[in-house]
Amino acid sequence: MLKENCLSDVKNRTAATIDRRLRSSAALGLGYTLSLSRKAGLMRAAKTIAVTGANRGIGAAIAVELAARGYRVGCLTRSGALPPTEALNDEAASRLIAYPCDVTDESAAAAALAELAAAPGGLAGLVNNAGILLHGRSESFATADFQQVMTVNATAVFGLCKAAFPHLVANGGGDIVNIGSFFDRLGARQHTAYAASKAAVGAITRSLAVEWASRGIRLYNVAPGYVATDMNRDALGEPRFRQWLEGRIPLRRPGRPEEVARLVAALFTEDLPFLTGETIYLDGGQSINQ
Ligand SMILES: NC(=O)c1ccc[n+]([C@@H]2O[C@H](COP(=O)([O-])OP(=O)(O)OC[C@H]3O[C@@H](n4cnc5c(N)ncnc54)[C@H](OP(=O)(O)O)[C@@H]3O)[C@@H](O)[C@H]2O)c1
Repeated sequence: MLKENCLSDVKNRTAATIDRRLRSSAALGLGYTLSLSRKAGLMRAAKTIAVTGANRGIGAAIAVELAARGYRVGCLTRSGALPPTEALNDEAASRLIAYPCDVTDESAAAAALAELAAAPGGLAGLVNNAGILLHGRSESFATADFQQVMTVNATAVFGLCKAAFPHLVANGGGDIVNIGSFFDRLGARQHTAYAASKAAVGAITRSLAVEWASRGIRLYNVAPGYVATDMNRDALGEPRFRQWLEGRIPLRRPGRPEEVARLVAALFTEDLPFLTGETIYLDGGQSINQ
């Protein structure tokens, strides 16, 4: 009990310090008022972040990392499944909430975000992670497949950003992390649709960052290199490809979902009020390797 009281005392004092800094920064007209106000809010109530495709792979790791850091996480998944929770204690696991939602269904996505935003603390952020990879020789790649990749990886990202907008504004601002790919700046054989869709994610991120900056909304495009998930399990399982890849990556290995998750979580938890619209590559140096 004594420990709990001390903890809550520390939290209250920290919140009071932030409030004091907030008031003085506002008086001085400093630009970081909004960021500090978000952090002060974090001290008072669990903030809610929606994560798409949170049932497996990178999305699951992001949802788990955010829940471990005290966020309430709306897991928007096609099946309504939650991510595996063995890494979490019961309290953190209870902060994961499942919402069945195909990201290409705008009304389902809007309904899920509205429900999440109705909880105390409102909606603080969104992670557009869901994505698909279809590839093949471009000369015979079906245009319908090209459109399918664009629909899931790019159009749905725009739709979810729009659906989140009113809730983030109502909450005094918020953060949107889009998961792009380092393929947005490569010329990768047989991956035209995927690369085009991820380049669109970078463009959506930059455009909305500029348009919504005055509304307190900041956006980031986290662009991983190869990360070991179901998406590339077959490719990474081929010894010759794996050997070639490890030679191309200066850090000599593919990434891990947890490494992407820690970067995404840092964008929500660190005090980075001057950062928006950027693409942040997390690829072990592969895309800058000569
Ligand atoms: N792995 C990599 O090397 C890599 C590199 C760069 C970028 N990325 C990006 O990282 C993100 C996550 O990829 P991953 O590697 O974790 O892939 P993954 O293991 O294949 O997981 C993809 C996730 O997206 C979900 N999803 C696909 N279409 C959906 C839809 N219409 N509605 C809702 N959810 C949908 C899947 O749900 P279901 O379980 O229902 O299919 C799954 O949860 C993607 O945007 C991907 O492009 C991955």
